[in-house]
Amino acid sequence: MSSKITIAIDGFSSTGKSTLAKQLAKELGYVFVDTGAMYRAITLFSMQQGYISKDYFDTESLLNSLPSIRLRFEFKPEMGFAVMVLNDVDVEKEIRTIAVSGFVSKIAELAEVRAKLVEQQQEMGKDKGIVMDGRDIGTVVFPDAELKLYMTANAETRAKRRYDELLAKGDTITFKEIYDNVVERDYIDTHRDNSPLVKANDAIEIDNSEMTREAQFDLVMKFVQEKIQS
Ligand code: DC
Repeated sequence: MSSKITIAIDGFSSTGKSTLAKQLAKELGYVFVDTGAMYRAITLFSMQQGYISKDYFDTESLLNSLPSIRLRFEFKPEMGFAVMVLNDVDVEKEIRTIAVSGFVSKIAELAEVRAKLVEQQQEMGKDKGIVMDGRDIGTVVFPDAELKLYMTANAETRAKRRYDELLAKGDTITFKEIYDNVVERDYIDTHRDNSPLVKANDAIEIDNSEMTREAQFDLVMKFVQEKIQS
């Protein structure tokens, strides 16, 4: 019998979900899936097609195009992780811009978009041995996941982390723009009708405002070992 488990990581934006998920997947030899990248790729597609811009959103055209949008992750050994591929084009860099972050919550509100992505995510995790991060993984995608984590940190800390990340990439952006985006996304993600961000009853909450990455990793590995052995 396989002792592989499913690890679902949900929480607010910029709480380090993907960093932790990547570390866990590497340590355990599991597959890592960043579901935010999938919502971001559909957002990028909508922007490229001119379906969404400031004060304009042609939902109907996006929904009509949905069946033709192909998303996949491609593992890059030199990077040690998988990049997002949208209709055969590597869009890993483009999906991380503040412009995409500005529209993504609107795209993620659409039931048809969520249904398409949830189905693909469930297929990716059907054999377990997966660490998936997002907003609805423990509640909707894998309600039976053996280990569920719900990550939080205060908004200033999260905005600062994101700000430092983007600055390091050479982005010219103000702290306030990032902070406002973090707060706005928190609101939309927790208040949308469809699969809002909520803590699953059986999820373990981790507030990492004051926690180092190493301490968090060690703590979570203890939970993982307990679940694998039980
Ligand atoms: O994790 P992230 O910040 O890259 O996610 C981008 C957006 O996608 C986020 O604002 C909410 C949405 N999202 C979602 O609704 N459900 C998921 N499972 C993952 C992300």
